[in-house]
Amino acid sequence: MIEVQSIHKRFHDQEVLKGVSLNVDAGQVVCLIGPSGSGKSTLLRCINGLETYDAGTITVEGARVDARSKHIHELRTQVGMVFQRFNLFPHRTALENVCEGPLYVKKEAGDAAREKARHLLDKVGLAHRMDAYPAELSGGQQQRVAIARALAMEPKAILFDEPTSALDPELVGEVLGVMRQLANDGMTMIVVTHEMGFAREVADRVCFLYDGTICEEGAAADLLERPTHPRTRDFLRRMLTPTSNGIAQ
Ligand SMILES: Nc1ncnc2c1ncn2[C@@H]1O[C@H](COP(=O)(O)OP(=O)(O)OP(=O)(O)O)[C@@H](O)[C@H]1O
Ligand SMILES: [Mg+2]
Repeated sequence: MIEVQSIHKRFHDQEVLKGVSLNVDAGQVVCLIGPSGSGKSTLLRCINGLETYDAGTITVEGARVDARSKHIHELRTQVGMVFQRFNLFPHRTALENVCEGPLYVKKEAGDAAREKARHLLDKVGLAHRMDAYPAELSGGQQQRVAIARALAMEPKAILFDEPTSALDPELVGEVLGVMRQLANDGMTMIVVTHEMGFAREVADRVCFLYDGTICEEGAAADLLERPTHPRTRDFLRRMLTPTSNGIAQ
């Protein structure tokens, strides 16, 4: 469904993606891990057409993704994105946030859009908070609204960029639970995450990005438990070792 072939991307004189290739089949979940600055967010932004790239090709169901194309807005509605910061409209309720895209981008009828939004908010466990404003919701609840909002566009795939990194630890589980459910429902997903437990349990494949290249990839259990590349081993060791302040790096 998603084909990334030998993507190169530079910012000024820094090459950030150095020939990255990645194929994701329909219904697959691919987790992307790697150190800060390795190019994870840039890769997701290229796949979603939020960022241009300098060489290579990206297609989603055969359609070329090119941030400069006049069709890019249409393509972007087909691939959802969920960010670390929830990016909800602060002056709109949860329900209104979820309806926004269907109503104003897809021009769906009001009643149908609201009915779909109610169903999706129920699905992410927020049936009782539909009329709350973002400031009245916890971070985990806000992120679940953001996931419902992405689903409301009926995307072919959803890209997640560290969806739980900004959350207090006790709120991480409820968001991962919704993502696990989505994966079980057959949604195609690329997930940038530091949650190794989620990757091991849910991902079909894990890719380790290092300095703009995919250094190692494989089935989740293989890569996470038996990494072969020294850089993957080193990264995983540091991920799993708590620092003196108790926060895993
Ligand atoms: N708009 C931009 N302009 C210039 N440089 C950028 C821009 N966006 C990203 N970069 C640089 O590209 C490199 C890769 O950034 P990217 O955000 O993709 O990394 P990342 O793997 O997502 O890191 P993190 O884990 O910290 O989110 C970094 O060196 C970053 O400084
Ligand atoms: Mg990032």
